Amino acid sequence: MNRPTVSKILGTGSFVPSRVVPNDEFAQTLDTSDEWIRTRTGIRERRYAGPADTSATMGTLAAREALAAAGVKPADVDLIVCGTVTPDMVCPSTACLIQAYLECGTIPAFDVGAACSGFVYALSVADQYVRAGTARRVLVVGTEVLSRVSDFTDRNTCILFGDAAGAVVLGPTDDPGRGVHQIRLYADGSRQELIQVPSMVTPNPPPGAGVLPNLRYLRMNGREVFKFAVTKLKEMIGQAREDCGAVGKRIKLIVPHQVNVRIIDAALEDLAIPPEAVVVNLDKYGNTSAASVPLALDEGIRTGRCGPGDTILLVAFGGGLTWSSALVTL
Ligand SMILES: CC(C)(COP(=O)(O)OP(=O)(O)OC[C@H]1O[C@@H](n2cnc3c(N)ncnc32)[C@H](O)[C@@H]1OP(=O)(O)O)[C@@H](O)C(=O)NCCC(=O)NCCS
Repeated sequence: MNRPTVSKILGTGSFVPSRVVPNDEFAQTLDTSDEWIRTRTGIRERRYAGPADTSATMGTLAAREALAAAGVKPADVDLIVCGTVTPDMVCPSTACLIQAYLECGTIPAFDVGAACSGFVYALSVADQYVRAGTARRVLVVGTEVLSRVSDFTDRNTCILFGDAAGAVVLGPTDDPGRGVHQIRLYADGSRQELIQVPSMVTPNPPPGAGVLPNLRYLRMNGREVFKFAVTKLKEMIGQAREDCGAVGKRIKLIVPHQVNVRIIDAALEDLAIPPEAVVVNLDKYGNTSAASVPLALDEGIRTGRCGPGDTILLVAFGGGLTWSSALVTL
């Protein structure tokens, strides 16, 4: 009997814009300090897109790197799925723009909206296409320009976010034991008010819609999101350990959504996970939403912290609320 088709990560890539924004820059205009930001979040600096950078241009650069790493030509890609909450436009999708920039031909391309879980959600879509045999080379992109939805008068939020893009190429594998073992997705729309990014379509939602005031920029209830993030990160790592047992693997590296080092530390401490088993790069990039997991994954691979045959866990959580994980052997 034939084995069911399994998808595998064939290559990864990432892009960060060149403008480095250290914590001190915020202290010039806000009642904050490098010390507060470092100790309360772990962030030292983040990158901001230049005038010519957009989610689509940055996503394209990350995608080119992932395609090169996978040894796949743009003409051989047969689906693009992009996670973003900061698309260049509502229409066309950022995935369509990336498809045009890469000159992939008339392959299907669409965006997935799941905030900071956007990349893992997009990966789950790609995984289903590969498993079903309807796509053999899928480009999955997470890309964000959060600096363009940041309220620079609000010290509670603007210091947290950065701009970046990450990408992977997914394709089928015959290699037993390798590939995507399990992807788990969750959402709780009843808690939608905890993180919101407005749209030009409904700039002033009606009163009573459970919407926070002054909805021009990203708004967030940081304290509640913090609690949610610690709980879900722990839950998903625990669940992945069980999933791992079922496939006879051990997690070598956890690649969590990069939000706040205190969130990651709280989960690690409770689960007795050593720091070397987790990728943390939020000190350099802050929270880059849908770009965060593929950016950290690409760093983990390029710095040799994980490689072929290693089992890794991608974990993301954010607006929606949404939370998600992917257990993968590279
Ligand atoms: C936002 C976050 C850093 C705040 O840290 P915290 O330790 O929870 O801080 P609190 O919200 O309890 O605020 C404590 C005080 O610090 C102040 N504060 C907040 N941001 C500050 C800043 N940048 N500089 C100085 N003081 C700040 C608050 O105003 C508050 O002051 P008050 O006690 O006088 O009211 C933290 O809750 C967090 O990281 N949450 C998750 C955020 C996230 O990334 N979400 C995205 C989607 S996953």
